[in-house]
Amino acid sequence: MLTADPSSTHPTDVRDAIRLADALAQRRFVEPAPPSIRRLLVHLLWRNDLDPEELGATAVSALKCDEMLDHELLRAVLCRVTVKDVEVEQAVKALRFTFLERMAQEQALPLDAAAPLMAAVVEQCHRTQHVYSESAAERTLVDRLIAAMNNDVPRTHNPELALRRLAVCAMYRPIWTLPGAERAFEASAGADATPLSDTLAELRREHREELEIQRDIRTLGTITDAMSASVQAHYEVHPYPRWLTLRRPAARPFAAVMAERFPDAVLPATEGRRASILVAGCGTGAHPIHVAMKYADADVTAIDLSRASLAYAIRKARQYGVANIEFRQADILGLRTLTQRFDAIECVGVLHCMRDPSEGWRVLTDLLQPRGFMKIGLYSRQARADMDADRLLLPARRAEVSPERFRALRDAMIGRARATGIPGATRIGDFYSTSGLRDLLFHVQEIEFDLPEIALLVRDLGLTFLGFRPEDALARFRARFPGGSARDLALWAQFEREVPDLFWSMYVFWTQRA
Ligand SMILES: C[S@@+](CC[C@H](N)C(=O)[O-])C[C@H]1O[C@@H](n2cnc3c(N)ncnc32)[C@H](O)[C@@H]1O
Repeated sequence: MLTADPSSTHPTDVRDAIRLADALAQRRFVEPAPPSIRRLLVHLLWRNDLDPEELGATAVSALKCDEMLDHELLRAVLCRVTVKDVEVEQAVKALRFTFLERMAQEQALPLDAAAPLMAAVVEQCHRTQHVYSESAAERTLVDRLIAAMNNDVPRTHNPELALRRLAVCAMYRPIWTLPGAERAFEASAGADATPLSDTLAELRREHREELEIQRDIRTLGTITDAMSASVQAHYEVHPYPRWLTLRRPAARPFAAVMAERFPDAVLPATEGRRASILVAGCGTGAHPIHVAMKYADADVTAIDLSRASLAYAIRKARQYGVANIEFRQADILGLRTLTQRFDAIECVGVLHCMRDPSEGWRVLTDLLQPRGFMKIGLYSRQARADMDADRLLLPARRAEVSPERFRALRDAMIGRARATGIPGATRIGDFYSTSGLRDLLFHVQEIEFDLPEIALLVRDLGLTFLGFRPEDALARFRARFPGGSARDLALWAQFEREVPDLFWSMYVFWTQRA
């Protein structure tokens, strides 16, 4: 719990900031938060050396019980966090619609006053990847506005109008898909409305950088498996996860971290050389960048099927100045011919979207050095069962639903959660962005597991189970089974039957090769 009043100064040292962020992350406000705490939250949310998502629920709870809407907190939340709250989402949708209607009625707000809030709504809509539904009337207005931007810009000579139009369109569609966006950028050149113009320019710049990066991504092996090709197509359109900043871990030698994590394990022989780590299915880079920062003496290879995801990852690695990662486009199944061997392999949230997860897991196992470590993350059938009611709403070919149908189905899930009081998918963070929800419920392939199945696979692959991530319920396990071994998957299976949402995000565990 936070006890000291942190109002006077904000932490300059990252360790102090982490300590305060960790304490605040546990808090949920049910009464107005003191101004000093709100200021601290705003400060922490804007820091680039923390992950603001960790403070999202706290900040949203503070926002919701704030009688006099704190604009700085609102802006920080909308710009830095993907809002994972249906009520606040409704408020953002209403705000977006107000801007649209005003635009349609040519009743623009004075831009200097409205620009910061407009910029924040643009950011939030970009962060959620425009996941919010639109009414038919709203869509008509949006289409008209997009057409007006495309047709009228050269004649307006009104930079502020051009900027406002572009901003409202960007609340509904990615700017790079808007036909008139480039001319709107030109036409808005004279508008003095930071941070709105900065926000829009930054979104365009990031997208351009990723397109440029994509051209130069090198490949490793080939993608011939039909399911891998379908999965690639999914993540080319919806790179996952879209993250902003991450908490920089303290850099330490690989062997020291592993010896501390597994005190009784014999480590792979890494003396006199750099450790080698493979992150398989690295997505948009948060995972390999974290790994590369954490192990000071390791070279990381990060592979993924999706060039769009890799481009995002490379842009972020550049932003963080992380140089010990090589990114390659590859299918795990295409790595069979690789001669390099790795001291550790991490593959989280990936194998369960392969045609045959055990085949992919086998390929990875063969790439381990003797005594090499492997971290795996797989969906739990039991934990995901509470989304069954939501799944019943989905059509058979759910991966192919149009954006409009996708948003309508999402609204149906919100309606179902409200009507029944059972949150289902709405309690999961991924529900609140397009790439997240597509990943969560609209995937071309998702295979769920239970612990007995995992125990068999681990055995068949000749691996030793070393335990789940400690942050995942280890303390609760120890309280439930005092003296029981945390490496006993049968005990964990019993525990999961008793607590069905124990592994609600995934089973994430370590194994080791002999
Ligand atoms: C749910 S995302 C997880 C990303 C990342 N591991 C994380 O935890 O943030 C799954 C990723 O696995 C990649 N993927 C799926 N099947 C793959 C395969 N056969 N080979 C390589 N990457 C694959 C997808 O392209 C996607 O980026």
